[in-house]
Amino acid sequence: MHPVPDHDTVLVVDFGAQYAQLIARRVRECQVHSTIVPATMPAAQMLARRPKAIILSGGPASVYAEGAPPVPDGLFGAGIPVLGICYGFQAMVAELGGTVARTPVGEYGGTELRVLGDGGLLAGLPSPQQVWMSHGDTCTLAPPGFAVTARTAASPVAAVQDPARGLFGVQFHPEVAHTPAGLELLRRFLVAAGCRQDWTMRGIIDEQVARIAGQVGGARAICGLSGGVDSAVAAALVHRAIGTKLTCVFVDHGLLRQGEAEQVEKDFVAATGVDLHVEDASGAFLGALAGVVDPEEKRKIIGREFIRAFERATAQITAQAGAHGEAVEFLVQGTLYPDVVESGGGSGTASIKSHHNVGGLPADLGFRLVEPLRDLFKDEVRKVGAELGLPPAIVGRQPFPGPGLAIRIVGEVTPQRLRILRAADAIVRAELSAAGLDAQIWQCPVVLLADVYSVGVQGDGRSYGHPVVLRPVTSEDAMTADWARLPDPVLATIATRITNEVPEINRVVLDVTSKPPGTIEWE
Ligand code: XMP
Repeated sequence: MHPVPDHDTVLVVDFGAQYAQLIARRVRECQVHSTIVPATMPAAQMLARRPKAIILSGGPASVYAEGAPPVPDGLFGAGIPVLGICYGFQAMVAELGGTVARTPVGEYGGTELRVLGDGGLLAGLPSPQQVWMSHGDTCTLAPPGFAVTARTAASPVAAVQDPARGLFGVQFHPEVAHTPAGLELLRRFLVAAGCRQDWTMRGIIDEQVARIAGQVGGARAICGLSGGVDSAVAAALVHRAIGTKLTCVFVDHGLLRQGEAEQVEKDFVAATGVDLHVEDASGAFLGALAGVVDPEEKRKIIGREFIRAFERATAQITAQAGAHGEAVEFLVQGTLYPDVVESGGGSGTASIKSHHNVGGLPADLGFRLVEPLRDLFKDEVRKVGAELGLPPAIVGRQPFPGPGLAIRIVGEVTPQRLRILRAADAIVRAELSAAGLDAQIWQCPVVLLADVYSVGVQGDGRSYGHPVVLRPVTSEDAMTADWARLPDPVLATIATRITNEVPEINRVVLDVTSKPPGTIEWE
């Protein structure tokens, strides 16, 4: 089965590296489609996907270690061009008759690479040039038939190729930003492999629109909007395909940040012309949350109330459609490629982070699914959204949890506390944007310690107010994170503005914990 019939595809064979997704994304930046598969997949299954090229990723193992994942049998003889990276390179060398030696010291971090001979794929690129290395073992002898095209001080064989057989390998990581010429090297490999560079967002939109129109036919579809980028882009795509046959549902749980409900109800509708049903359930949510302080209990209540509200909305929409002799058969979901990727050590299962499904829907709602973003990475989704004309505030939105501000109020959720937190959060967002820091941070939760009071002095009087915590983090995927080093003047402005403008808050503190051990959210 070919993953996307109209495009050439590159298989990225995942040897358990944290880099496989990054490689796949870089290939797509070169406008070639890519799919990640586990290294445990038999070669016949890989070849059945009719890849135009194969990239073997890095991985944590030594090719000598017991249980080190081998290159699937028969992959090299299949006549498909292969690029091995780091572990994938060493596995290729070991398999084809070269030598990989254990070395007492590895090579980690930025390293100077020298291009040798005619350079092959590296021809004409700077020499020396900076590349990113992360390996213990080293290739000391290239396999027969291969030319050595680069070396570093510690790696005599840092790049090899046998273009007649379509085989290439590099010890360094071309996919990371610390290898400035890495993207060019990947592009040259893809060109050498004859891949068509036709994976463009405009093309994807046209294909998806045609596919969705075919799938949904004359039926009606429903799409839940959360205010986040995925559901907004999924809805906009489906709307382009089926127009008024789509109804979007926005469950307003009253736990969004300042301006976010309006962004959905006004800006999104203005940009797309979509038919929107707003289910105002904030009263029900707040009522159910009264007196609750335990975070898991909050999540359960919000999950339950969300499904109730969504079902109320769909019942109404279905009844209206029925009155016109129409049926609502489809549910649109913003599932992304990283959610379905067959990766993670070869288990072949989708990796789903359990609590992230809060605010999600049960599988048995009785609709067939439309998932137009199933093959896209997040950055591609943002590009598709921009191409579809969605407002930058929606397309560029940072992650925000389904349970919203309820898990950023440590303590009971009340309307008064929501008002305080919203005011503080709006100041933080405004100042981060004004300082041009949005692209550098993954997200910045603002947390209200609602049951903590501390003494302060404001004007001539003693104050007794709450602290808020700033939790700015940098991250690649939210699985790990570091605290973002925000410039002092920005922190100072935020602290001054919050304590001046939000009377209930008299202290602003900064969370400097990485993840692990701390999670990003406080609850
Ligand atoms: P943690 O706190 O686990 O958060 O480090 C990782 C990422 O997930 C988001 N998050 C949630 N998203 N429902 C969601 O939809 C939730 O219950 C939830 N809890 C955390 C968090 O904002 C971060 O991006």
